[in-house]
Amino acid sequence: MDRDQIIATEQKIMANVYAKRPVVIVKGSADLLWDEDGKEYIDCAGSYGSCIVGYCHPKVVEAIRNQSEKLTSCHGSMYNDSRSELLQRIANIAPNGLDKVFLSNSGAEAIECALKLARKYTGKKEIIAMMGAYHGKTLGALSVTWDKKYRDPFMPLVPQMKHVPFGNIEKLKENIGTDTAAVITEPIQGESGVRFPPNDFLKQLRELCNEKGILLIVDEIQTGFGRTGKFFAFQHSGIVPDITCLAKGVAGGIPIGLTLSKNEIMSSLKVGEHSTTYGGNPIACAAAAATIGVLEQENLAEKARVQGEYLASKLNQLRENHPIIREVRGLGLMIGVEMRFDVREVILESLERGVLMLDAGRNVLRFLPPLVITRAHIDRTAEVLDEIIGEKESERLRGKPSEEHA
Ligand SMILES: Cc1ncc(COP(=O)(O)O)c(C=O)c1O
Repeated sequence: MDRDQIIATEQKIMANVYAKRPVVIVKGSADLLWDEDGKEYIDCAGSYGSCIVGYCHPKVVEAIRNQSEKLTSCHGSMYNDSRSELLQRIANIAPNGLDKVFLSNSGAEAIECALKLARKYTGKKEIIAMMGAYHGKTLGALSVTWDKKYRDPFMPLVPQMKHVPFGNIEKLKENIGTDTAAVITEPIQGESGVRFPPNDFLKQLRELCNEKGILLIVDEIQTGFGRTGKFFAFQHSGIVPDITCLAKGVAGGIPIGLTLSKNEIMSSLKVGEHSTTYGGNPIACAAAAATIGVLEQENLAEKARVQGEYLASKLNQLRENHPIIREVRGLGLMIGVEMRFDVREVILESLERGVLMLDAGRNVLRFLPPLVITRAHIDRTAEVLDEIIGEKESERLRGKPSEEHA
């Protein structure tokens, strides 16, 4: 199929639920992607953060190839060598106490398991989530997600899920009741604009949950796996949650979801109360085990810290020169650039110039590149952004209308 046929086919047959970009991607390596014409793109979007170790990392490719020649599927009701290898690797890196794992296929599924666990273990119903939260779009995960545009068309959602302002410990205290099972939070809110809570929030939240005897669920689906400079972002706060969820980059780009919890919590689920046919699939497990190996051998969490500081410094230089950049905020290689206008045009124009970027809300550009991104590619990204913003500023001076945000 040529480019036009590929686009026409997806438009005709695929559910129309993604805001599509006009590009056909056919190949990837490390922090680069190529389209069907051979045009190269620096990928600062990292497939929405799921390409932690870079595209087609040779060790991940080798693990997938070897496993796919041996065994492609093995239900969780049987034991499997590839799965055990992954579980052992997870046990080696998980903080003390998070010693049991449920394996699934996506972030939303990892969240579903966490919500069910909280209800089953505590025997209580209510879950408190944060305003601005994003936890996925299956009905349970959607019930703790905040944005009305995702929720409203699907009401009624799961009952007894409520939201309080992100990072506000006093509001949380007021809202915890006798039927509260758990609080769920992202350490840094990704989808709603790379938003940080106050510094001591997770620590205070941990103490509050201990005091009230409720569970703390930390969603690390976007922040985890080295992205922020530590394996889990909650490690910056020195806490350990009762349940945590991982997905996105865990298997080097192959679908997987992990729900980790304390043994006694996971053990509250009895045989048959939760399962998924592909959970613990041997190919996904082999890819994930290889990905963890790469993270460790290439010290990628530390690379994320160093390259993240470099990218943030370049973006801050731009902010000094361009008043239409309001703020640069981030940790490791999870960075948001808040603009004074709609960023969709910047995303389309950067695509033209060979750099893929993401949005996070209407006026925030989001950077979630593979942790292997090079300095040269960070420099090029900053250059492209500088050019585009410079042009936007000239347009404004010439009086071309733009969608300014308050
Ligand atoms: C913090 C967070 N939680 C959950 C999800 C849902 O993951 P998935 O899209 O794999 O269902 C996402 C996806 O972006 C996310 O960023």
